[in-house]
Amino acid sequence: MTEKKLTIHLIINSEKKELIVGKQERLLDVLRRESYFSVKKGCDTGECGMCTILLDGDPVRSCQLTAAAVDGRSITTLEGLARDGELHPLQQAFIDEGAIQCGFCTPAQILTAKAFLDDHPDPSMEEIRVAMSGVLCRCTGYVSIYKAILRAAALLRGEPTPPIDIPEAVFEEGAKLTAPAIYKREEGDRMPIPPHIFTPEAMSATTVVGKPEMKVDAVKLAKGKPVFTDDIKLKGMLYGALLTSPHAHARIKDIDASEARAMPGVHTVLTYKDLPRIKYASGGQSYPNPLPYDQVVLDNKVRHEGDRVAIVAAESPEMAQKALHKIKVDYEVLPAVTNGLDALKEGAPVVHDEDDSEGIYDARRNIVHHIEQSVGDVDAAFAAAEHVYEGDYSTPRQDHAALETHVCITYMDEDDRLVIRTSTQVPFHIRRMIAPLVGLEPKQIRVVKPRIGGGFGGKQEMLLEELCSIMTLKTGRPVRMEYSRREDFISARTRHPNFIHYKVGVTGKKVEAIELKLIGDTGAYGCHGLTVQMVGGFKGLTLYNAENLRFICDVVYTNTPAAGAYRGYGSMQCQYGIEVLMEEIAEDLGLDVAEFKRANWLKVGEPMHLSKKLGEGREGFEQMMNTSGLSECLDLALDATDFYAKREAYQKQSGTIRKGIGLSVMMHGSGIAGLDMASATLKMNDDGSFNLLIGATDLGTGSDTILAQIAAEELGIPVEDLIVYSSDTDFTPFDKGAYASSTTYISGGAVRKAAQKTAARLREHAARMLELESTEGMLLKDRQVIAPDNRSVTLKEIGLSSFHNLDQHQIMETASHMSLLSPPPTAAQVVEVEVDTETGALKVERMMMAVDCGRVINPLTAAGQVEGGMLQALGFAHCEDLYYSPEGKHLNADFGPYHIYRADETPAIDVIFVQTDEPSGPFGAKSVAEISIDGVGPALVSAVHDATGIWMRDLPLTPEKVWTALKN
Ligand code: FES
Ligand code: FES
Repeated sequence: MTEKKLTIHLIINSEKKELIVGKQERLLDVLRRESYFSVKKGCDTGECGMCTILLDGDPVRSCQLTAAAVDGRSITTLEGLARDGELHPLQQAFIDEGAIQCGFCTPAQILTAKAFLDDHPDPSMEEIRVAMSGVLCRCTGYVSIYKAILRAAALLRGEPTPPIDIPEAVFEEGAKLTAPAIYKREEGDRMPIPPHIFTPEAMSATTVVGKPEMKVDAVKLAKGKPVFTDDIKLKGMLYGALLTSPHAHARIKDIDASEARAMPGVHTVLTYKDLPRIKYASGGQSYPNPLPYDQVVLDNKVRHEGDRVAIVAAESPEMAQKALHKIKVDYEVLPAVTNGLDALKEGAPVVHDEDDSEGIYDARRNIVHHIEQSVGDVDAAFAAAEHVYEGDYSTPRQDHAALETHVCITYMDEDDRLVIRTSTQVPFHIRRMIAPLVGLEPKQIRVVKPRIGGGFGGKQEMLLEELCSIMTLKTGRPVRMEYSRREDFISARTRHPNFIHYKVGVTGKKVEAIELKLIGDTGAYGCHGLTVQMVGGFKGLTLYNAENLRFICDVVYTNTPAAGAYRGYGSMQCQYGIEVLMEEIAEDLGLDVAEFKRANWLKVGEPMHLSKKLGEGREGFEQMMNTSGLSECLDLALDATDFYAKREAYQKQSGTIRKGIGLSVMMHGSGIAGLDMASATLKMNDDGSFNLLIGATDLGTGSDTILAQIAAEELGIPVEDLIVYSSDTDFTPFDKGAYASSTTYISGGAVRKAAQKTAARLREHAARMLELESTEGMLLKDRQVIAPDNRSVTLKEIGLSSFHNLDQHQIMETASHMSLLSPPPTAAQVVEVEVDTETGALKVERMMMAVDCGRVINPLTAAGQVEGGMLQALGFAHCEDLYYSPEGKHLNADFGPYHIYRADETPAIDVIFVQTDEPSGPFGAKSVAEISIDGVGPALVSAVHDATGIWMRDLPLTPEKVWTALKN
């Protein structure tokens, strides 16, 4: 039965509109259908706030209203906020303060803030937090959003708003650093503090690098322009839908799609019977993809609730959903196993019992990989140690919860090539991996990555692209596929839940031996199972780099969604375990925890003993620590938080609410040594500007901006003279994509090389124009090339000359970069907490991280990475986990039951940078994206121990677990 249609009248952004809508059609869908693409969808349950619009000036969730219900009313979307080309003060403030990362939540944040500031011109911090609590952000940690609202309020009140200033202090190497007074927070103070930078005096000065440049994509995101994958309408587009398994483990005895296929408006229905059985691995990894090859596009067995069963393409989303219901599936339900420890037990259900998967270590025992590596004589070292300590730790199955769910649109272009427009971190891997699955050569495929609404590793995977492509190839029509929020929870990827056993041998204050035994749960498929755990083993055994080290790991299958890449990539789980055990040891030996860690952590000039044996999925390379600011970071973090004074004071506290302060240190990497490679192209235009073409994939992190800063620094131009384009497999050079904290270090290295080559061409052409014999001493500065005799030519003159007059040619250079090193950024983390000992509830008051990420290319975007990373890590440590019934049914697969931190719940979040000058990095840069997530878990456990005396070893620290531990 077709839905009854109505005519309604709306005023949208001051324009009168007459619209024909379905009686039950949601306002959100109508607005997007009418191309108001700034209105986003992030859930299906009214929890995320992405769809917020202003209805007669009030913020409402457009997914919770029918269009018919607002007939006659006035609507404002973000498209309507800028007037006569002038940005609204809120839009400008969001840009200035770096409050836009991926930008997917930005329209809802700005509109909500507008309605709030209309009524509260001079708001308090607490009022802002409460007002913004209905709109989630997964990227920023909310800090820059608060700053932007405060700045906009001042602008609207007509007060002066000075340019953004990042305080910087120069220090002498070896000096003991103390934190600026602004970091000494009063209790309950949540006011954002600008990140402070500490710079060694020997570090060279830069002009564009190191400055808080505006993100190159900020204006379009602040205006709500249609820049995301789903923000287009293609003529004749079909809607794809996925039938997922209701069972955690079942064989498909038969499947009958005939009724669905016969439905009007249904163009294709495909099941395992219709597709070739080609084994592959879905993780967006380098060639050759690490084993196992344990997936096929559609299988005759399902291995978790949410696994793929069939796909449909139809004229409308509703028709596609109806068709799914007509597919008859005869399942033979099998027993399921949902826990990695149970999966190893004798008689456990076998997740992969097929005989055509490749590279599974022991399928009968559910072991996909077994890894053993060691250095030194570990047993002898344990036997000789004065003390041997052991501890068991476990970590949750965290969901990425990017606010843009996975979405892609595929179509055939005019040359009959397949175009895949997709929200991916790895466009070049997608092209290569998809080709054999759809029966095309890579050259017949173009992958386009528009703006991405958050990734965090979840989009380093081929999830919908091959399904959508197959339906386009079958039908010849454009097809759109999108996960609902629930599908994103049950069918996409998660963080690996790990069971971690550490054993540490200590003599005096020295750690002599460490053993890490790890059981990693990769869920139903092994897409990132090997690499995540090798990285975890390496970093978890390198932070404290004893000479005797052993890693033993089983990666196991369970009947749960496949685990994949997730910011922190195995490292955060293992560093959590070792950090907590190191503090337990310090306490037992009566040592100061900070000094015990300082005495044992990896120092400059020391080798990383396991770097060769534990590469990422294969043998690595010998490495050593070149630079480290960890000691300075620790000093600053301790001082900024009055760590020792608080620890002493808290010993005397009594009552139900107990305060605690905790500490951790961490290291990460910068790209994958010897594996990651990136390229960049710079092409000059005749006005002296340049196109910067990069395959690197900005997923909201600001990488397009920092790469432009690197090029601008070399070319002596402002960032605004660079037109950055990323990424498109037809038009940008190759890049491995955004993962492994590689973009600044590896892609930045490529951009710097391309810019150096371009600068050389500019000097040569300028020398010809000035009739000089040599380019020696020529400077690129202020959009000019300046000769030693002070004569100069502008870049515009060079552009025009090289195109039209002298030795006519295009000034254009491409460069590639890889590194056999992966220099570790380092950091110190402090967390302050209040524990309600009656209920077990935790209230985190403050998180402070002091970070050494080498040279900070852009302090605003870097601080945003650290702030957002800490809040994601707090979710991991405190409240985020996916739960299953014994049969493997999802119990909390939606926002709401799966809780991510809201604006009004966030603690104070503070960042300090300590710069180091990494010789192998562009301008001394290392990485920043993942180190930010590594330390909150152990620091929270440390703080809870400080408050209560109990050691919590099983994350997340839910009230139930804390309460139970307290009672026991
Ligand atoms: Fe409306 Fe999530 S899409 S609240
Ligand atoms: Fe808020 Fe990405 S910037 S979700």
